[in-house]
Amino acid sequence: MNLKGRDFLRVDDFSTDELLHVLDFATKLKGDRTPRLAGHTLGLVFAQPSTRTRISFSVAMAQLGGMPITLQASEMQLSRGESLGDTARVLSRYVDAIAIRTLSHAELEEWAEVATIPVINALTQGEHPCQALADVLTIRDRIGRLEGVKIGWVGDGTNVLVSLARLASRLGMEVVAACPEGYDPPVGTPLTLVRDPAEAARDANVLVTDIWVSLGQEATKEQRLRDLESYRLDSTLLDLAADGAIAMHCLPAHPGEEISADVLYSENSAIWDEAENRLHVQKALLALVLGAV
Ligand code: CP
Repeated sequence: MNLKGRDFLRVDDFSTDELLHVLDFATKLKGDRTPRLAGHTLGLVFAQPSTRTRISFSVAMAQLGGMPITLQASEMQLSRGESLGDTARVLSRYVDAIAIRTLSHAELEEWAEVATIPVINALTQGEHPCQALADVLTIRDRIGRLEGVKIGWVGDGTNVLVSLARLASRLGMEVVAACPEGYDPPVGTPLTLVRDPAEAARDANVLVTDIWVSLGQEATKEQRLRDLESYRLDSTLLDLAADGAIAMHCLPAHPGEEISADVLYSENSAIWDEAENRLHVQKALLALVLGAV
């Protein structure tokens, strides 16, 4: 399957077979350090902080024999008025792919329109598709299947939920999301929306949550904490889930807010595997879009 030269801005940019191919290749690449991308470079443009995404992309590139280059907007002429388009044109002459974190999905699309190299979404307010790939790989690793799996989401209907629901729906999983009013995911997201967290958790194979105050929402923090208080992923919800259910969270976590510490650090927690899988799926994605398989 040839994914060379492709952008990955949204889950729906890839067909179901292509998404499964990335997951299968990620499994194959675990522990593999063949220098498939020797001589290749990845530009990392991060307008917001990141631990997992930026570092796992950097390590992925290094394990593939290539080189990551962190490109701070503040250190480029972007910060002095050079246009995004001209920056994308020039970077396309130097690096082989770019991973971009910017809140505006429209801005990411602008990068992709002008760049002549693969552009990868490293998180926008719209989607976090690399996170969804890692989440689904974790579910497959831990549960042993995808078809028929029930994912119960509790809390804010974030970009992470949107990407996870889109990917899950393509792979035969069911997503039931319990979000308080005012925190719904966008209309059209393929999931069942409920208000009662117990309904999402009951018989779920996977329980997932996300932070209550995402990047750019700091000004409304106190209101958000109040509104989401009864949507914490805790042991009461875990007790309602199916036998052997796992808990997931894209991190960073705020124990005591969206997840209780006893769940975060429990035997049911697949959260640290989930973080590790960011590395494996992004290695696969980079090798595939750069045609080095
Ligand atoms: N899950 C995630 O995207 O983490 P970072 O913000 O640390 O990259």
